[in-house]
Amino acid sequence: MDISSVFKNNEKWIESKLALDPQYFDKLASGQYPEFLYIGCSDSRVTAEDLMGIQPGEAFVHRNIANLVNNVDLNVMSVLNYAVRHLKVNHIVVCGHYNCGGVKAAMQPADMGILNPWLRNIRDVYRLHHDELNAIQDEEKRYERLVELNVQEQCVNLIKTAAVQEAFKERGLKVHGWVFDIHTGKLIDLKIDFDKILKSIREIYNLYPEVE
Ligand code: CO
Repeated sequence: MDISSVFKNNEKWIESKLALDPQYFDKLASGQYPEFLYIGCSDSRVTAEDLMGIQPGEAFVHRNIANLVNNVDLNVMSVLNYAVRHLKVNHIVVCGHYNCGGVKAAMQPADMGILNPWLRNIRDVYRLHHDELNAIQDEEKRYERLVELNVQEQCVNLIKTAAVQEAFKERGLKVHGWVFDIHTGKLIDLKIDFDKILKSIREIYNLYPEVE
């Protein structure tokens, strides 16, 4: 791909937007009111807006390797706090994907240098669900299940935070776990039962004793 084509594409995109609505960019510049925060993988094949068919302004987006919500990552925590406490999103989505290179790397016995502490988060997910994962004989299926469990644990990480617990109490903020199936293009809702998970971890992670 020729990098200069990016600017030609941009000109075409501007034209197409203005053809539909001459005020398009004035409206875009006036502010953002996204309904949800999307946390996904940096993988070039998993383009948040494109696969959901959404437009600029509709989702606040954070992407990193293997869609991790790490407690001490200032980046994801800043995005989360801004989206929940200032933009007041009503939904947070963690979207993983099958064939995730980050998850695959975390299944290998290999020193990945600077990536080690990041991928360790996924190894910890494996340890938490060790029995279930090791019972799966087919390696491909085990890999897919780890992708799903990683999404689930990142959703749990979200509900451990003060911002999410507060918004949950205030306005019923919802957390969703999805997986993008790269083989078919389908977006799969893992239908994680967060009320159940929240109840089971409340004793340990609750930051607002009055949340019931
Ligand atoms: Co990935």
